[in-house]
Amino acid sequence: MWISIKKAKQTESIGHQAQVRGWVRTRRDSKGGFSFIEVNDGSCFGNLQIIADASLSNYESEISTLSVGSSVVITGEIKASQGQGQTTEMVASEVRVTGIASATDYPLQKKQHSFEKLREWAHLRPRTNSFGAVTRVRNRLSYSTHQFFQEEGFVYIHTPIITASDCEGAGQMFRVTTLPLDKLPMRDGKVDMQQDFFGKSAYLTVSGQLEGEVYATAMGKIYTFGPTFRAENSNTTRHLSEFWMIEPEMAFFELADNMNLAERYLKRMIGDCLRDCAEDMAFFDKMIQPGVLAALQVVLDKPFAHLSYTEAVEVLLKSGQKFEYPVHWGADLQAEHERYLTEQHVQGPVILYDYPAAIKSFYMRINDDQRTVRAMDVLVPGIGEIIGGSQREERLDVLIERMKAAGLKEEDYWWYLDLRRYGTVPHAGFGLGLERMIQYVTGMANIRDVIPFPRTPGSAEF
Ligand code: 4AD
Ligand code: MG
Repeated sequence: MWISIKKAKQTESIGHQAQVRGWVRTRRDSKGGFSFIEVNDGSCFGNLQIIADASLSNYESEISTLSVGSSVVITGEIKASQGQGQTTEMVASEVRVTGIASATDYPLQKKQHSFEKLREWAHLRPRTNSFGAVTRVRNRLSYSTHQFFQEEGFVYIHTPIITASDCEGAGQMFRVTTLPLDKLPMRDGKVDMQQDFFGKSAYLTVSGQLEGEVYATAMGKIYTFGPTFRAENSNTTRHLSEFWMIEPEMAFFELADNMNLAERYLKRMIGDCLRDCAEDMAFFDKMIQPGVLAALQVVLDKPFAHLSYTEAVEVLLKSGQKFEYPVHWGADLQAEHERYLTEQHVQGPVILYDYPAAIKSFYMRINDDQRTVRAMDVLVPGIGEIIGGSQREERLDVLIERMKAAGLKEEDYWWYLDLRRYGTVPHAGFGLGLERMIQYVTGMANIRDVIPFPRTPGSAEF
């Protein structure tokens, strides 16, 4: 019976005949006339040790020269291991080689490669310990997301990838067009967008929020989970041009409900990950970011801190810290400020709220002071902003004013405004960047190393 290596490594498998299929990580030949082969199939961090005896018919011809990266199908009996570091091993009765990886040119030989180097081999890097572990954590966080929201009665909505509206109003969108770039149709000195595929300008979405609001104001509580695209020229360790975002949106929720949900959701994901990816997390704690396990455990046990933007600015001004960008009320907070607040001041996650209206999106609800909006950002150590969200402006006249001030045309958002015309309700939501969440729980320094195929300015290989 074909079983996963994860299963083969459990004590319950001892005494069973089984088959495993995977890729060779190492091979050692013993003078006693047999070889140890470590095989990994991606199901768990650890390898299964195979003992292949010289009496096997293809021992001389194949097994004794098996190279790293070769694919194998192995049948045998699972036994309690005599050796250290593993509980089980398999004594092979058959080792079938399905594909050789040449020992002279397979890039992933036993030596350690830098993450930079491995990015050039994004097609092979999932076969390394680090990327296997990242991939399983990514999977667990995605699964937790669906479990959490489904258990809370949320409805999963698929929002469009191609859209005509700029949700964040920041003009960082990739254009989608079928117009011939070498022969653009012109009208009155401008490109005639009516001749484009959709009869108007279209873009890759920067957020599913606006369409999410449509469904929240019918279904109550919804979430989206999909790819989002931003054409900002940011070459940092926290920005991708294509990333995955989870966006819940809840009718009848105000800012405090929104904050509470965000905290419970983050804790649920961390708890699931610590429990179900223990082996992978132990690796991150040992090799990538010492202390990450203890830090996450503390996060689970403590309520998140809350600070208004105004309080945060006061903390920064009093910090005595020299920042590259000076702080003053009204300034957008830079990564250095966010990190000071979460790493030095709070030493844990902190929710900042009530930001100046001028630095936030048009759809956020204006406070009575007329200067701040009901925004909330969740900041975490090592990353800075991991969640951005808000209570939405549900008052039609106020929203129209805000859109005018932001230079947005009412007619482009007619359907969004209709939500305020017909049965408007207070509502709120947020967006979590999946990759930043993975960075946070794994301690991986560069966001390019927590997504299978990173897209960044100047780079879209694979
Ligand atoms: O703060 P942002 O821009 O918020 C929105 O898009 C809202 N429409 C969300 C909502 O309220 N429904 O982005 C949300 C999160 C950020 O906190 C960050 O974690 C992540 O998305 N993010 C990025 N992740 C990787 N690369 C980028 N370029 C990112 N931009 C934002
Ligand atoms: Mg934001």
